[in-house]
Amino acid sequence: MVIVMAPTATAEDIEEIVSLVGTAGGEAFVSRGVSRTIIGLIGDVERFAALNLGGQRGVAEVMRVSTPFKLVSRENHPERSTIRVGGVPIGPDTVTLIAGPCAVETPQQTLEAAEMAKAAGATLLRGGAYKPRTSPYAFQGLGEAGLRILAEIGERTGLPIVTEVMDARDVPLVASYADMLQVGTRNTQNFALLQAVGKAGKPVMLKRGMSGTIEEWLMSAEYIAQRGNLDIVLCERGIRTFETATRNTLDVSAVPVAQRLSHLPVVIDPSHSGGRRDLVLPLTRAAIAVGADGVIIDVHPHPEQALCDGPQALVDADLHDLAEIMRLFPPLLGRTQV
Ligand code: E4P
Ligand code: PEP
Repeated sequence: MVIVMAPTATAEDIEEIVSLVGTAGGEAFVSRGVSRTIIGLIGDVERFAALNLGGQRGVAEVMRVSTPFKLVSRENHPERSTIRVGGVPIGPDTVTLIAGPCAVETPQQTLEAAEMAKAAGATLLRGGAYKPRTSPYAFQGLGEAGLRILAEIGERTGLPIVTEVMDARDVPLVASYADMLQVGTRNTQNFALLQAVGKAGKPVMLKRGMSGTIEEWLMSAEYIAQRGNLDIVLCERGIRTFETATRNTLDVSAVPVAQRLSHLPVVIDPSHSGGRRDLVLPLTRAAIAVGADGVIIDVHPHPEQALCDGPQALVDADLHDLAEIMRLFPPLLGRTQV
């Protein structure tokens, strides 16, 4: 069961609901979104029904939700959400370009990559300081030193930053630098991490597990929402299939399917999907055409020297075409580029 509070509901109104639910032996999870507060209830639905929750002050609606995910479900929130990251919108009216280096390597490389991102029209800067690598011998990221570089370059270029956090214990530290926390494909079902980012007070980009179903992905989003954070953006980044020509197989269908099931924005990562520079622009066109609310793209000033994922990074020569796609495609779908 889900309670949607009216925009005018006060903190006392919300407390009253939480306490009433407690008297019926239930648990209430309060999630505050940009536009309204939603309370997810766990417990005996019949006992909740006896509480006349719909008649309580500040309550707009009480809903029984049939999907296993409730707070992120579109069933209780028919309007699609817009999430703001440092003031930059990600939602149904816009197509947001997020770009930057896969990994923060040096201040100079990060600055050059941020300038490339900006030249292509990006309004958010991506970059990893904690890198989830297959090999323990591969570059693991600069850690806090990388966060410092990213934050400095973000400030210098005026781009809010999106960066990955891999461990629940690092969430407060990463959140103190980041405008948006990223949960990577390898951690989509790290439930302790999901709960920690749910409490961090920052928007979250949740990648789809490389072998995860859409329902599993939305259940992971529900973990974040249940801890009080509805500012979640879903990111389709390609899934594992039998195909070996590409690094992963971009599941374009996941965008409309997830958007139908959930009110959360959905973006595509064409870099990690294809894993090849020559596929990034075609997959970006596909992303916008299928209705993605944004794209997140790797760029690098010298990909041949990159410490992570060089083959999929766009270079200077690609920026003009990326900027043109971002300028021309969104208006065809009634959206503006952000
Ligand atoms: C990139 O952002 C990831 O850290 C990278 O794709 C991990 O892959 P790899 O370690 O197998 O190269
Ligand atoms: C990334 O975007 O830096 C990343 C590690 O992506 P994914 O989790 O999708 O592999």
